[in-house]
Amino acid sequence: MIFDKGNIVKVAVLASGRGSNFEALCNGDTGNGRISLLITDNEKAEVLRKASSAGVESIYMSPGRYRTKFGETEEMAWTRFLMDRGIELVCLAGLMRIIKGPMLEEYSGRIINIHPSLLPSFPGLHAQKQALDYGIRITGCTVHYVDAAVDTGPIILQKAVDVKDDDTVETLSCRILRQEYIAYSEAVKLICSGVLSGSGRNRFHKER
Ligand code: GRF
Repeated sequence: MIFDKGNIVKVAVLASGRGSNFEALCNGDTGNGRISLLITDNEKAEVLRKASSAGVESIYMSPGRYRTKFGETEEMAWTRFLMDRGIELVCLAGLMRIIKGPMLEEYSGRIINIHPSLLPSFPGLHAQKQALDYGIRITGCTVHYVDAAVDTGPIILQKAVDVKDDDTVETLSCRILRQEYIAYSEAVKLICSGVLSGSGRNRFHKER
């Protein structure tokens, strides 16, 4: 999906918890991307308060009866809500659920995610602990398109973070988060500026 150069793009964030990436997106330079909507699957999520402070429309919507995925009816309802609001780009920011069904079809190539490692290393949960346990010396964060598997979609951009000898999961997570905030806004700006192409793993325009 290529967004037209110069057009404003309505962006929704889907999140389940703290919402520091949502907040960073609201305060960051997202170019033509406008953070216009927050949807959460957690009625008690801190991100709801952050949306209210930022003056961004927010809503809790039921995800259905499963723990790590959406019920089919519910995923359809979320998708319809996004479409009714004219959302063109969806940013996952700590959404603790896999998207597989109607949302992925409708928003194919227009859903992105941020992950706290340099993918394809350490996909899935507890990426920072995985990195420390492995003994890696450089980790970081990745913004990528979402596809039907977990953390495997085409990469948009990455930021590296050194691992220090005395790092704990908390100290490392904190340093990675600071890079996440920069990376996510940059990625939204890049996508909304219309410079990425629509398919394949490498979506930057390049002469090869
Ligand atoms: C971040 O580390 C992000 O990379 C991961 O979930 C965490 C969300 O944190 N996908 P927050 O809710 O944005 O503070």
